[in-house]
Amino acid sequence: MLSFAASHAKGKSAADKIFDTVMAANKAGAKYGKDKVVNAAPGTFLQDDGQIGFLPTVEKIYRSLPPGEIVSYAPIAGIPDYLDAAMTAAFREYRPEAYAKAVATVGGTGALHNIVNNYSEIGDTVLTTEWCWGPYRSICEDLQRKFATFAMFDEAGLFNIQGLTAKIDEILAKQERLVLILNTPAHNPTGYSLSEADWNTILAKLKEYTGRGRRQFILVIDIAYIDYAGQDSRQFLKKLSALPENILAVLTFSMSKGYTLYGQRAGAMIGVSRFREVIEEFDNINQYSCRATWSNVNRAAMRTLATIYQESGLVQQVDSERQQYVLKINERAGIFTAEAQAAGLEMYPYKAGFFLTIPCIDPGRSCRKLEEELIFAVALGKGIRLSVCAIPTPQIPGLAGKVAAAICEI
Ligand SMILES: Cc1ncc(COP(=O)(O)O)c(C=O)c1O
Repeated sequence: MLSFAASHAKGKSAADKIFDTVMAANKAGAKYGKDKVVNAAPGTFLQDDGQIGFLPTVEKIYRSLPPGEIVSYAPIAGIPDYLDAAMTAAFREYRPEAYAKAVATVGGTGALHNIVNNYSEIGDTVLTTEWCWGPYRSICEDLQRKFATFAMFDEAGLFNIQGLTAKIDEILAKQERLVLILNTPAHNPTGYSLSEADWNTILAKLKEYTGRGRRQFILVIDIAYIDYAGQDSRQFLKKLSALPENILAVLTFSMSKGYTLYGQRAGAMIGVSRFREVIEEFDNINQYSCRATWSNVNRAAMRTLATIYQESGLVQQVDSERQQYVLKINERAGIFTAEAQAAGLEMYPYKAGFFLTIPCIDPGRSCRKLEEELIFAVALGKGIRLSVCAIPTPQIPGLAGKVAAAICEI
């Protein structure tokens, strides 16, 4: 085949199962009628009438921005008011007592790109849970890093600390620094949130490595869904106050889900360390990568968040509007979970968030079976992901039984 691609780019392609499944559902909707089709694949919150949720206060602020706030360039690091707002939005009342700084990025994706680029060497291995958001792997492979995972749950269905430490040991036998990505709370795709006890054990284990040579951890906490995870979901952030010098924590903040500005591509990476020089370096090297990769971030989205966080009344308004979405998702997940239990359908421990996951042996075949009934779900490596963020509530009753039947047949 005639190819111009450099060796590291050869053979790559951006096929995306999720977008493909959404397209297939839309096509079926056009053919059989939208109400006959269950589209269980999108990664956005949809109202029961199928319309995308756009938080009304966010929409109002966004649409009333003056032209200069829409078309102008923004500073490379992000608008200063936005950086303050992103930190407040991420931490709320649980800001750790440590040095912390934010750098604006194109969504959480941009933050993850910079982290892998700047905190691992080419050829290094980056670690995350086996159930994970697919682009983690693409980001690593695109940047010529290796990608490793550990089984997320043990046989008792608990977060698999042993699997995590075994994998850390294996990787640290070959490299000195490790980027570990944990997506919590409201993990994509299982809906799991690390518990207080999980966090204590993870941090204690990471601290154990402190004494062993010059090993360093970049603990990446992907909080893309944090605003859908309930009041207490930020408590763990206080634990980042007392990290030892070998751990740099980086939160990846996103305006996509929490502020329904998915396509506007605004996020931030927030570095947390007890050491000022670590955070100064964080600011410098990541701004440099922003400049060299996408330059600056969507100004209108940044100004929208900055405006919200300049007035506590607006924050409360957005929170209470979002709470309606949370209640809707909880209702859908609640119906599905109860019916799954009744049908004997195994599910991973769903706590909150946009998705839930059903483990099964042949997800591809099970999904094709479901498609015969016009149910379109995403087949993952070892299970089926259902978007409770997007399935209209009236379509949920009966769904667990149909999934159980599709799995049973195979
Ligand atoms: C787990 C997870 N992390 C990060 C992101 C990043 O989203 P964005 O780049 O739109 O902020 C997503 C989006 O779907 C996600 O599911």
